[in-house]
Amino acid sequence: MPIRPLVVGNWKMNGTRAMLSEARAIDRAAQRIGAVDVALAPPYTLLHAVQAEAEQISVGAQDCSANDIGAFTGDIAASMIADVGAKFVLLGHSERRQHHGEDSALLTAKCRQALAAGLQLILCCGESAAVRDEGKEEGFVLEQLQAILPQAGEFSSSVSEVLTVAYEPVWAIGTGRTASSDDISAMHNRIRALLVTQYGQEQGEQVRILYGGSVKPENAGEILALPDVNGALVGGASLSAQSFMGIVLAATGSDAE
Ligand code: 13P
Repeated sequence: MPIRPLVVGNWKMNGTRAMLSEARAIDRAAQRIGAVDVALAPPYTLLHAVQAEAEQISVGAQDCSANDIGAFTGDIAASMIADVGAKFVLLGHSERRQHHGEDSALLTAKCRQALAAGLQLILCCGESAAVRDEGKEEGFVLEQLQAILPQAGEFSSSVSEVLTVAYEPVWAIGTGRTASSDDISAMHNRIRALLVTQYGQEQGEQVRILYGGSVKPENAGEILALPDVNGALVGGASLSAQSFMGIVLAATGSDAE
């Protein structure tokens, strides 16, 4: 079965209510394009308002707590994210791993909370420049991902409906540098093999694997045409409807430029 592409905008710590017009423009353009699944992960403060604009796009959070509701000042529970109508959560982003010391044990607890709340997961992985310079990127990324992948039995519906993986080499995030097509293909191919081992052929082949790291309208066509690249996780270029929709258009196979 061909996989429907998914393009996700991660707004990171950007966006006030002034950005709602961009969310609206993205939603309306996504309705016109139709052939690509489009999603936005705004900061928590905008989740509800972006969700209210969303007729076509899916809305999700950038993180969730490893705990259920209760005395955890400043944290947001997965069930609260689901309560505003959000559908997914990003977990394991390198910025959370780096700035908040998130490790596999914590991320596994977050995954459990998200699944219990009925949220879809976008699990991120990616190596640093130092790891790649040592030539150890494949082993590193596969181990990082394997450590947080839920067991097949933890999913209440089919694995591929709930799980998406995003490969984001740390050195390509926000730097304007993208991995080469050969490097992206090699890594996505290895991730696919891991997913097939973990979930079996039928499900493992249907899980979407996104590429992230300096994706722009100008390079999206080439990246999104690679085998086993089923979409993109976009940071900076998702902050404007015009550039983000250029990437979404590229995911249809049309020329974005
Ligand atoms: P940039 O697209 O700004 O490089 O960010 C990628 C990213 O981290 C998305 O999660």
